[in-house]
Amino acid sequence: MNWNNELTRILKIKYPLVQAPMLGVTTPEMVAAISNEGGLGSLPVGLLSPEATLELIQKTKTLTDKPFAVNLFAHEVPEIDIHAAEILRSKVSEIGDKYSIKYEPVDIEKIRYYSWREQIEILIREKVPVVSFTFGLIDKDSIQQLHKNGIIIIGTATSVREAIHLESIGIDIITAQGIEAGGHRGTFLEDEPIPQVGTFSLIPQVADKVKRPILTAGGIMDGRTFKAALILGAQGVQVGTAFVGSDESLAIDAYKKALIASQDTDTVLTCAFSGKLARGIRNTFHNEVQGLDFTYPPYPILNTFTAPIRIASQKNKNKEFTTLWAGQSASMARLKPSAEIFRALIAETEQLG
Ligand SMILES: Cc1cc2nc3c(=O)[nH]c(=O)nc-3n(C[C@H](O)[C@H](O)[C@H](O)COP(=O)(O)O)c2cc1C
Repeated sequence: MNWNNELTRILKIKYPLVQAPMLGVTTPEMVAAISNEGGLGSLPVGLLSPEATLELIQKTKTLTDKPFAVNLFAHEVPEIDIHAAEILRSKVSEIGDKYSIKYEPVDIEKIRYYSWREQIEILIREKVPVVSFTFGLIDKDSIQQLHKNGIIIIGTATSVREAIHLESIGIDIITAQGIEAGGHRGTFLEDEPIPQVGTFSLIPQVADKVKRPILTAGGIMDGRTFKAALILGAQGVQVGTAFVGSDESLAIDAYKKALIASQDTDTVLTCAFSGKLARGIRNTFHNEVQGLDFTYPPYPILNTFTAPIRIASQKNKNKEFTTLWAGQSASMARLKPSAEIFRALIAETEQLG
């Protein structure tokens, strides 16, 4: 099978398979494993401090000399309303108390959000080959700066309109994210309800409207789904859930086991953990927050307030009070090293001719 296309040429990779950035799950080891196999690993640094961003990039560089992407959250940082934050903290603690979960509550005074604007200089200085972004748009100056430094830019779209918009501002590669996808929706045009278009419908319609190469994200778990994405008009795939179960993943065992034990109907789109719509396997925390009577604060404020309970849940190896981000095809995940999962995806697709 000839894997060579415009996308592989632009990204300087052998196979058009991008490991999705997954904050909280992806490690430099996972990124390097995929890049070393000839795909593109993606290192998530959304919300991280400039120091942590630099450290992760440098660590990844010690593990691979192949291209990899660094992924930013391009949303605007919200102001914290102290009064609303206190109400929020008490709502979360009601759940903690009900289930006797011991955790350190958030110190509102110490909350500090980092913007992608504080990270971009580091990415340029470190000469990362590819920058991808989600949740918003990076500005014109930053796009020019990245391009001037030879950096390829990947943006996330959840509708045809968003894909056209990304192309019009000079983004090199468009990741079209279907509603099946695990994790947060990458929607950035906020003048209409959040698009909920499935991968099968989204890809051909985007392919008909934009000239830039397209990556498919959402439901790619094996050779059949990879091949289908290519037939539908994508030049490559961005795969998340399939790597959550990998050896290099930070997911706790109970999360990995929940993937393979899940059924097609077990994931939900929820704002309960972070305040932003995301897909994951339903659990007790989700159900409890759904039952609360309050207005979700903007992302990432709710995320900050649920973090201590999520961390405690992970420490206790309990999957019921942490995020179990996963796509609709979670049951097809494999609990293996990242490189093996990668090689299986390539081999299965090749077998289909
Ligand atoms: C655990 C998890 C975390 C994610 N975190 C990010 C992230 O940090 N940045 C991002 O652009 N996308 C993130 N996503 C979304 C992926 O980029 C991608 O759209 C999705 O995984 C594709 O669908 P799939 O999970 O069915 O493969 C995440 C997805 C998962 C499952």
